[in-house]
Amino acid sequence: SVSMRAKMPPCNFVPEKYRSYPYEHMLKIREQNIAPSLRMYYKKPLLLHQGHMQWLFDYEGRRYLDLFAGIVTVSVGHCHPKVTMAAQKQLACLWHTTNIYMHPSIHEYAEKLTSFLPDPLKVVYLTNSGSEANDLAMFMARLYTRNFDIICFRGAYHGGSPYALGLTSIGSYKHGVANGIGCSTTMLPDVFRGPWGGSNCRDSPVQTVRRCSCSEGVCHANEQYIEQFKDTLNTSVPKTIAGFIAEPIQGVNGAVQYPKGFLKEAYQLVRERGGVCISDEVQTGFGRTGSHFWGFQTHDVVPDIITLAKGIGNGFPMAAVVTTKEIANSLAQNLHFNTFGGNPLACVVGSAVLDAIEEDNLQKNSKDVGTYMLLELAKLRDKFEIVGDVRGKGLMIGIEMVTDKVVPLQVLFQLR
Ligand SMILES: Cc1ncc(COP(=O)(O)O)c(C=O)c1O
Ligand SMILES: *[C@@H]1O[C@H](CO)[C@@H](O)[C@H](O)[C@H]1NC(C)=O
Repeated sequence: SVSMRAKMPPCNFVPEKYRSYPYEHMLKIREQNIAPSLRMYYKKPLLLHQGHMQWLFDYEGRRYLDLFAGIVTVSVGHCHPKVTMAAQKQLACLWHTTNIYMHPSIHEYAEKLTSFLPDPLKVVYLTNSGSEANDLAMFMARLYTRNFDIICFRGAYHGGSPYALGLTSIGSYKHGVANGIGCSTTMLPDVFRGPWGGSNCRDSPVQTVRRCSCSEGVCHANEQYIEQFKDTLNTSVPKTIAGFIAEPIQGVNGAVQYPKGFLKEAYQLVRERGGVCISDEVQTGFGRTGSHFWGFQTHDVVPDIITLAKGIGNGFPMAAVVTTKEIANSLAQNLHFNTFGGNPLACVVGSAVLDAIEEDNLQKNSKDVGTYMLLELAKLRDKFEIVGDVRGKGLMIGIEMVTDKVVPLQVLFQLR
């Protein structure tokens, strides 16, 4: 009811008046002229009109607090003044020239982006979408290792292009056509829903409601999941592989966190088989997890390839693969070309986003606001039957709704 609705903080930004077609007409165009594979949410789908930092305004001027940020893409705020200004300035100067010529912004950006990364992750390849970045990461892994097989987690989303769809392992995104040749899935080490998990497995202010009797420094669940990973290596792939791809926290599947130490051990096993380790930082990058700038750092590993998208451009269509000089060289043996990747506009936007993250202290904000939210949401988990799990790190938060919550009261008290 209205009386129970939380009040939103004040905002003195006034959106422009909506001047386009009426709502009903928009729905009609949607039905007739827009591909039906683009699904809409809510009984009455939103018609959004303007954005200002954390706020969105619909066609009637109604204000929303945007917690979704366009599927975790608007990393520094809608129309962030600094980013908007950089884009406007570049728009009046040079939009496009092929990247076979030099232009300043791609060089400035490549230097700036890699300054946020440890050695040997120093070579950047810019693309236009995350799917394209993951396609390229797979391609480079295969070219570099001269092996074919890539391991990915069940539940993963890495893109919708025919190549990346082989990695995407959520049934509802699969289509009944051949894809994923050379991609093998392995068990997701999900400490809430999976067969093993306990009360200290994950790197989060909130643990599962499961019990465990592991002593300090031991994680039974991790050992079991690593056995599963070894089983995949023994049974599903040849002796040598091209690589392994994982997000540091699995995004689309509900911010699933693996046991601490899992990725580190898995990376070692993959490298023993000649494979490279790919970290999909599309959702976990750019300070979102709060404690670190990149998700892989929260696992104390250094990948061989990382892929970036979404928050990299605050909504501007751009993405990147960052890797080592040696791996990048594998693609230089023959011609490879991308018309828009690394265009001047994208590069100035990318640079301004990095500046905004630093100037607005957004990594710390993710940590402070995210930790507060996680702890408050955990109270709802303890209170309501339908909230099974609350998890995550920084502003990457998952809440799992369940119909079968069985939590003995003493467990809840013991965990508090
Ligand atoms: C983790 C992850 N990787 C890759 C992608 C694909 O990015 P794009 O939609 O830009 O192709 C997504 C998109 O949701 C994603 O969440
Ligand atoms: C994998 O194979 C090795 C070598 O044969 C064996 O020692 C190990 O027990 C196997 N592990 C699993 C989990 O199947």
